[in-house]
Amino acid sequence: MATRILLSGGTGRMGVALAGLITAADDLELVGLLDREGSTGPGGEAVEVPERAGPLLDRTDVVIDFSAPGFLARLLDAQAERLDGRALLVGTTGLGPDVVERLEAAQGRCAVLVAANFSVGVNVLLSLVEQAGRLLRAEQYDVEIVEAHHRHKVDAPSGTALALGHAVAAGRARQLDEVRRDGRSGHTGARPEGEIGFHALRGGGVVGEHHVVFLGGSDRIELTHVAADRALFAEGALLAARWMVGRAPGRYTMAEILGLG
Ligand SMILES: NC(=O)c1ccc[n+]([C@@H]2O[C@H](COP(=O)([O-])OP(=O)(O)OC[C@H]3O[C@@H](n4cnc5c(N)ncnc54)[C@H](OP(=O)(O)O)[C@@H]3O)[C@@H](O)[C@H]2O)c1
Repeated sequence: MATRILLSGGTGRMGVALAGLITAADDLELVGLLDREGSTGPGGEAVEVPERAGPLLDRTDVVIDFSAPGFLARLLDAQAERLDGRALLVGTTGLGPDVVERLEAAQGRCAVLVAANFSVGVNVLLSLVEQAGRLLRAEQYDVEIVEAHHRHKVDAPSGTALALGHAVAAGRARQLDEVRRDGRSGHTGARPEGEIGFHALRGGGVVGEHHVVFLGGSDRIELTHVAADRALFAEGALLAARWMVGRAPGRYTMAEILGLG
């Protein structure tokens, strides 16, 4: 039987990319789209709002959410019980503590996967960056993370940049919050040892670029990922969706799905 998928944020950029791939796949079925009241899908498909999504959820195996934090919160509030026994994949970034709390509650009833980036390449990069953070010690190498995204992106630094920062910090046995620095301006003083700097470029149609730069006294190592098409994230999300079907309630990670340890 085909895996039945409900798309939250179904008329957005990622929603449209996912709907196209789902429709083209023999083993997947698109159950419906959740989005803003009154909106329609790219082919004129009907759209439902979270508060009225119950009948769609009853026919769903996996919910995939690429929307906005407030919209995801509405879905979790309105349909908490209907998520029982299903899988929930969240790609939305910029989640605040209120949504994180709701997701922690949801993982008691359904299989939850939250990934700031669903591309296989970025997940491999996360693992490489953690290793580099461990081997290129804070006393010798400063780390700056530079990301670029299209002009419509609403959060900064990107969720992927923050995940990369967490990976460097983990490699150095530090918490990101202790060493994070968002941009620089004015008389900043000398750079403290161990700081991890974040810089966000916004403009044009850039799908997503991330550069993790290790700056030493005499050399520089750069680890970079450039996404050329959002199909990359959609394909990774569908790979994860296939893996998540029928999993027990709890929290899962892309690293686990990709065998990255
Ligand atoms: N994890 C990953 O691999 C990955 C990859 C790409 C993007 N993302 C993240 O996925 C999310 C969506 O990205 P996108 O590029 O698809 O964005 P998008 O084109 O803006 O799509 C989001 C959709 O959700 C709707 N929406 C947003 N806020 C809403 C609200 N408060 N009430 C009702 N509907 C609302 C939008 O409707 P309107 O257009 O009417 O506002 C839109 O249809 C972002 O958080 C982005 O950072 C993650």
